[in-house]
Amino acid sequence: MTGPRQRIAYIDHAQELGGAEHSLLDLLARLDRDRFEPLLVHCADAAWVEKARELGVQCEALLGMSEIYRLRRDEIQRGLWRNFQHAALTYQEARRLTSELRKLELDLVHTNTLKAHVVGGLAAHWIGRPLVWHLRDILGPEPAREVLRVAGRRVRPHVICISRAVAETLPADEPRRTIIYNGTSLERFCPRQPSAALREELGLPTGGRVLTIVSRLTPWKGHVVLLRAMRQVLARHSDTTLLIVGEAAFWNADYVGELEDLAGELGVREATRFTGYRQDIPDLLALTDVFVLPSTDEPFGRVIVEAMAMELPVVATATGGVPEIVKQGETGLLVPPEEPTVLAEAIIRLLEDGELRREMGTRGRERVLAHFDARRTVRQVQELYERLLVPA
Ligand code: UDP
Ligand code: GLC
Repeated sequence: MTGPRQRIAYIDHAQELGGAEHSLLDLLARLDRDRFEPLLVHCADAAWVEKARELGVQCEALLGMSEIYRLRRDEIQRGLWRNFQHAALTYQEARRLTSELRKLELDLVHTNTLKAHVVGGLAAHWIGRPLVWHLRDILGPEPAREVLRVAGRRVRPHVICISRAVAETLPADEPRRTIIYNGTSLERFCPRQPSAALREELGLPTGGRVLTIVSRLTPWKGHVVLLRAMRQVLARHSDTTLLIVGEAAFWNADYVGELEDLAGELGVREATRFTGYRQDIPDLLALTDVFVLPSTDEPFGRVIVEAMAMELPVVATATGGVPEIVKQGETGLLVPPEEPTVLAEAIIRLLEDGELRREMGTRGRERVLAHFDARRTVRQVQELYERLLVPA
């Protein structure tokens, strides 16, 4: 393309590196820089932004000063007075951000987190630039959903939904939506021999099978139900180890201790490893036999695609976007949430059938190649930008 590059501001208020930020970094890494010039607008104390800087992305710490960023989703709109206060703070913050964004001479604004959709969305509307909301949440009938609806009517975003399940949460008469699945790197998540050194580091018994969950340690990811299922798995296969990979959010730091205590009470503590946050997810998956994600409601679940790319069979709950990724009986087994016995039965079935594990794993990677390749995701996002940037 000839002519100047289009400047796009990505707005993300998260302090910690979650799936939304991993997905954004994947996009930034592959964005066609001949056509688009990305800028990241973030909170002052967000360490993950360093990774964007390493990709040569201009980063601007323009968020985080307002109290609005410290508000939890379940604290929004409690009572009329609080509601009024939050609305006033949001308006004030959006006004401030508007004057900052104006200086950046942008062509388009792409928001990546819920608060950014509202605050950044208003700012984009006021500077008169096309707006993309990258919607990554399934909001229940909670006030946050209403706030988003009201804001959406005002700022008229084009909404990228990370799954059909997410799209279904939007008002039925909302036409400006596109489903674009998160993709993964097929080079990074590529099958390899398991590392003997890593097995030793984790203290895995020789010849024993390994179950792995990778996720933030937060109640809705279903660790409790998995620990309960593990008790039944161990009754049949005592040499199985469960790897619990990931860390708790900073506001919920005690949760690891709670899970460790529960594992102790259930008698599965010795067979469980809490690894904390790891950078070497592909290597951990390479020594895994079955990947598990028993979330109560999962908008998408990047980790499932990563596991499939590593040719692993998946046991996950039939919630949110998961059935769009895992084909029941073909690339994994889907179970209802909160049912430890059904979960244990699915895991045991796969542990006992090496042939089925291999078949599902092979089909899993094929499915990722066809539908969840990071390059495809970026292509679809860029096509959307081009449509939105066509001069009226
Ligand atoms: N992740 C990681 N190390 C960890 C835990 C998670 O690198 O110890 C990555 C994981 O590989 C995935 C992302 O964090 O890419 C989590 O995204 P997902 O969509 O599964 O979950 P979210 O936390 O966004 O709900
Ligand atoms: C959110 C969702 C997760 C999704 C991720 C990336 O954090 O909880 O399901 O995979 O965003 O879009």
